Amino acid sequence: MLKFVAVNKENLTLAQEIQKKVFPKEYQNDTLQNSLNSSPEYLSQFWLVKVGKKFIGLTGIYYYPQYPKDAWLNWFGVIPEFRRKGFGRKIFNRTYAYARRLGFKNFRLYTDLKDNAATLAFYKSRGMKEERYSPNQDDFTDIVIFSKSCHPFKRKIVSWGNKYLYIQEQLLLSQNDMLNCVKKKVRLSILIFLKHPSIFLRFCRMSFFRKKS
Ligand SMILES: CC(C)(COP(=O)(O)OP(=O)(O)OC[C@H]1O[C@@H](n2cnc3c(N)ncnc32)[C@H](O)[C@@H]1OP(=O)(O)O)[C@@H](O)C(=O)NCCC(=O)NCCS
Repeated sequence: MLKFVAVNKENLTLAQEIQKKVFPKEYQNDTLQNSLNSSPEYLSQFWLVKVGKKFIGLTGIYYYPQYPKDAWLNWFGVIPEFRRKGFGRKIFNRTYAYARRLGFKNFRLYTDLKDNAATLAFYKSRGMKEERYSPNQDDFTDIVIFSKSCHPFKRKIVSWGNKYLYIQEQLLLSQNDMLNCVKKKVRLSILIFLKHPSIFLRFCRMSFFRKKS
């Protein structure tokens, strides 16, 4: 039986250790820490995943305020010794179900195309739609996006269509404390709320679920 434990101040170091085990090459120290102060402008939430007494993986979601219909899977993975036992599938399904409960229309993720066979095979096995990401303004060309509909009946998947993903900016901002940067953009936040009031509602729902977990 899998248990999901929200990442918080008390278990942050443990969560970072698990993140490092799952992603030894891409590990970034501050993403999880930033999520602790998640705000409506940049919503981000993570969970440690436990089987019995052992922590075996990590998962998370975030979204871009300018693309409010789409939830993105974040730092999802299983530590090497627990792979190929069906845990990835279960963790993925629970994270997807959570995104649906929050009212998102699409569930997406992006990942590397090169040297990533197991991960690509995993997402293909989940019946996700695959598309290359290659917008003119982004340097990250070896990226593939996988998408899944969150609608209970309409399973047709809406393509991402090369909208800009801010990958470079995310990396830079996460190195320089993304939240501090975002918090300064108060005017931007007000504009976002006026344009997309559903974001505020979603944030409230998310905070509610977070308190319950
Ligand atoms: C991708 C990952 C989460 C899969 O987790 P997992 O627990 O091994 O996956 P599961 O055991 O649930 O596998 C489900 C299906 O995915 C496919 N799959 C998973 N790993 C595979 C591999 N190495 N080769 C081929 N297919 C694979 C299979 O179809 C598998 O079903 P099967 O075992 O019945 O054949 C795991 O490999 C991982 O953590 N990788 C490193 C982190 C990462 O890349 N995360 C994704 C970031 S975008």
